[in-house]
Amino acid sequence: MAGSGVDYPIVPPALMSYLKIKDSAEGYVLPEVGYDYADLEPHIDEATMKLHHSRHHAGYTRKMNAALDAWRKSGENADLASKPIENIIQRVDDVPKKWQRAIRNNGGGYVNHAFYWQNMSPPSDPNAQREPTGPLLERIKANFGSFDALKQKITEAAAGLFGSGWVWLVEVPGSGELQLLTSENQDNPMSQGLKPILALDVWEHAYYLKHKNDRPSYIQSWWSVADWRKVGDILAAWNATQ
Ligand SMILES: [Fe+2]
Repeated sequence: MAGSGVDYPIVPPALMSYLKIKDSAEGYVLPEVGYDYADLEPHIDEATMKLHHSRHHAGYTRKMNAALDAWRKSGENADLASKPIENIIQRVDDVPKKWQRAIRNNGGGYVNHAFYWQNMSPPSDPNAQREPTGPLLERIKANFGSFDALKQKITEAAAGLFGSGWVWLVEVPGSGELQLLTSENQDNPMSQGLKPILALDVWEHAYYLKHKNDRPSYIQSWWSVADWRKVGDILAAWNATQ
């Protein structure tokens, strides 16, 4: 089999379900946010959420579906083409060249934003955890020293990322180590065989309406809606069947 030799972890259906990623006869469906566009106010504004989800995420969805459709009709690398999008993103380097850029960018955009919505919750959510607790906190301490140290690292990585991209917290399969990393454009760490559990979108479309070019103030706002209970849920979903 072609590929980089990376041993890709199983992506459990429970994780896709948590991320509200769904296939249908007409192609993949735009994942629901799970709360109203205005619900993250005053931290993330309604207009930004509406544009981000109903235009940007919908656009990635539409273009990904079109690329998948054209690729599947071509019959090239039909084995990979027949797989669900999460497995295609893992092995994006094996997508035929003609569709690889479209799948990397739009398939990545499709999956990445599903993580992003589910990593946040309304300020009024009684179940929200604005800081990690329990076993997740212990693992963060073991890998980063303290939650404050991780928070500082995420904030610095997000502020310092050049151009458009993402900041991720991932679990490394095997060692179980938690790592912080950044990706450019819509690249997803699943393509490196990793298990993303936290996604912070630092594309300008995530903040420009409200914050203009002040990315640090957006990052500060994002901390008010980031939900560590959901990070823990995603980590548990990754490992539920293994
Ligand atoms: Fe985005």
